[in-house]
Amino acid sequence: MSRKHVKRTTHDARRTTNIAVLASGNGSNFEAIVGAIKRGYIKKTCVKLLITDKEKAYVRVRAERLGITQLYINPREYNTGGAFDKKLIQVLKKEKIGLVVLAGYMRILTPVFVKKFKNKVINIHPALLPAFKGARAIGDAYRYGVKITGVTVHFVDECIDHGPIIAQKPLPVKKGESLSGLERRIHRAEHTLYPLVIKKISEGKVKVRNRHVQVG
Ligand code: GRF
Repeated sequence: MSRKHVKRTTHDARRTTNIAVLASGNGSNFEAIVGAIKRGYIKKTCVKLLITDKEKAYVRVRAERLGITQLYINPREYNTGGAFDKKLIQVLKKEKIGLVVLAGYMRILTPVFVKKFKNKVINIHPALLPAFKGARAIGDAYRYGVKITGVTVHFVDECIDHGPIIAQKPLPVKKGESLSGLERRIHRAEHTLYPLVIKKISEGKVKVRNRHVQVG
């Protein structure tokens, strides 16, 4: 078998996975992940830190309440030549982070960062990729009139909302459903799917070959 065709497990299941969550907003996914670890649903995994680029993000209040160490990095202090991501890399290496979880993180990661953490950065997107990329996916899908939308968890690569897909949860749009009703159901689905994917990764059950991800 050539090197190119060897399937790579993204994680060594014998070790504890140190997670860093990167978030810019509300933080409901962050809380769902921390809760799943505290309940013992995800084992041998620890959220070592929350990193945010928004001083007033509500996710910081959640981190405080949940007793998770947090770090606010002010983008204005790191605004040249990928300095923000260099700072991120430095922190993540120091904390021995094995999995970077994006949860409503509104900055685009630099190619340098993505290369350094290849197949170690995951993101959740509130639509069935590759449809409805971007920051307004739920509303875009709703206004388009789709009958089925859903949630996608994927590895992060150099392009936005593009990396190999790990898992998807389809959700049919109900007859006469409001946008806010759909939003609520999408977020509920996220809070189940994201912890499930992290659990599988921590158990060494996620294997990647090119764009194809096998989840055992
Ligand atoms: C989620 O809908 C996620 O899919 C998207 O950003 C939102 C974050 O929500 N990437 P929260 O901050 O976790 O509540």
